[in-house]
Amino acid sequence: MTAIETNRRVLLLGSAALGLTGSACAQPQADAKVRPDLYNGELDYLATDFTGRAEDLTASIVLSPTTEPGERMAISGRCLSWQTGQPAAGVIVYAYHTDNAGEYGSGPAGTRHSRLRGWMCTGADGVYAFTSIKPAPYPDRSMPAHIHLTVLEPGRRPYWIDDIVFDGEFKVDAAYRAAQGNRGGNGIIPLKRNNGVWTGVRDIRLERHPT
Ligand SMILES: [Fe+2]
Repeated sequence: MTAIETNRRVLLLGSAALGLTGSACAQPQADAKVRPDLYNGELDYLATDFTGRAEDLTASIVLSPTTEPGERMAISGRCLSWQTGQPAAGVIVYAYHTDNAGEYGSGPAGTRHSRLRGWMCTGADGVYAFTSIKPAPYPDRSMPAHIHLTVLEPGRRPYWIDDIVFDGEFKVDAAYRAAQGNRGGNGIIPLKRNNGVWTGVRDIRLERHPT
């Protein structure tokens, strides 16, 4: 097998793993350990600070409208049990990110919310999805463009997971990759442009909780 063929095979395997029907993230993680710092997120409280009850949330949202300046982006994925690898229902996923100038802007008065934010709740298929604009890196260019995710499972405390960042883009390099904790599985995802919309899949392998 030539180097090109090998690379192509790796790419194909990688693509399959990142697809909604992929299998890599669907494998049970029987050896999963409870992270001692699972609940260390300063902003985790924001996961519970949504308008309306959990049962009123939908699995798919428009996080920012088409009037928001920037290139359109669509992110989706499945929440998967660490124990069984099966889709998990009733999981609230809170997502927020910067605008196309790298600014969080101001959320509602008296809160620390980002202006661009939203909550989803998975159904039986474990799927969450949102459309928004593609965020830009912070103005000081200190880190890659990213999307923060916090997960709230039924009856559990919320916890943050690895940000979504875009493979091959600014500052998503070997150092960044090495620094990731793989919280909630891999957050480094490729984007493809489909009909003018940047599209990516970020499956979430739910973390093991203390008993
Ligand atoms: Fe951030």
